[in-house]
Amino acid sequence: MAATLIDGKAFAAWVRADVAAHVARLREVHGLVPGLAVVLVGQDPASQVYVRNKGVQTTEAGMASFEHKLPVDTPEADLLALVARLNADPAVHGILVQLPLPKHIDTDLVINAIDPAKDVDGFHISNVGLLGTGQKAMVPCTPLGCLMMLRDHLGSLSGLNAVVVGRSNIVGKPMAQLLLGDSCTVTIAHSRTRDLAEVCARADILVAAVGRPEMITGDMVKPGATVIDVGINRIERDGRARLVGDVDFASAAAVAGAITPVPGGVGPMTIACLLANTLTACCRANGLPEPDGLTA
Ligand code: GUN
Repeated sequence: MAATLIDGKAFAAWVRADVAAHVARLREVHGLVPGLAVVLVGQDPASQVYVRNKGVQTTEAGMASFEHKLPVDTPEADLLALVARLNADPAVHGILVQLPLPKHIDTDLVINAIDPAKDVDGFHISNVGLLGTGQKAMVPCTPLGCLMMLRDHLGSLSGLNAVVVGRSNIVGKPMAQLLLGDSCTVTIAHSRTRDLAEVCARADILVAAVGRPEMITGDMVKPGATVIDVGINRIERDGRARLVGDVDFASAAAVAGAITPVPGGVGPMTIACLLANTLTACCRANGLPEPDGLTA
């Protein structure tokens, strides 16, 4: 393996410690405790694990964690009423409604009912618009984590060719906006892109967020490129369950300059950035300066 390993687990631990230090200062100096409310509808096992991890890490950072677990058949109106209560609650600075929601609930309606200032997922249409126009926004956690790792590894991203493979609202599109904001030349590719290998091979920065196990192989990677693998795919190989990314790690690592592993790359950064966004939301709500290095 030629590539440097970008250790997301270690970087996420550093971000969480930095957030915790800011939170301690907010408490001491201003008597403020940032609060994050997480809403889970139903009992999807993966969502339950995410929500539990979010609760533990929120508390560890010294923030208040509010969990609302609702039955799978919760009427949409009841969920909207809870969001309205959380919007009005001064102890709550961040609101996250865990996705996916059950099919009888209109996801866009619920997300857009969240106060944009408390939308720590950055999914509200106002935040999408603010990010797209280069204004101060709440930024989705996974792409924010990718940006932090890229800045940490490369310093300035200005003028670099960036290719984002994947066009989701949660990762691909906001990632492209963030890279554009850092003056990259950005291409968004996806599963229908013609000659994906040729497009990827032009990338100084290659972000894979397409949701297809090991789709990006070493022959598609420019020598020396920085490769960020957002994929988390559960597959079975040789009779064993395994977690793999959207990048074929072994072949890509032989060519890349730097690469994130799966697991231990982008994954841990997502919750760390959720904590960072909650802290940022609390600072903005109280007219205080935002912490350096934890926002886009
Ligand atoms: N489900 C899986 N990832 C996420 C996330 O980042 N935010 C929300 N709200 N739901 C998710």
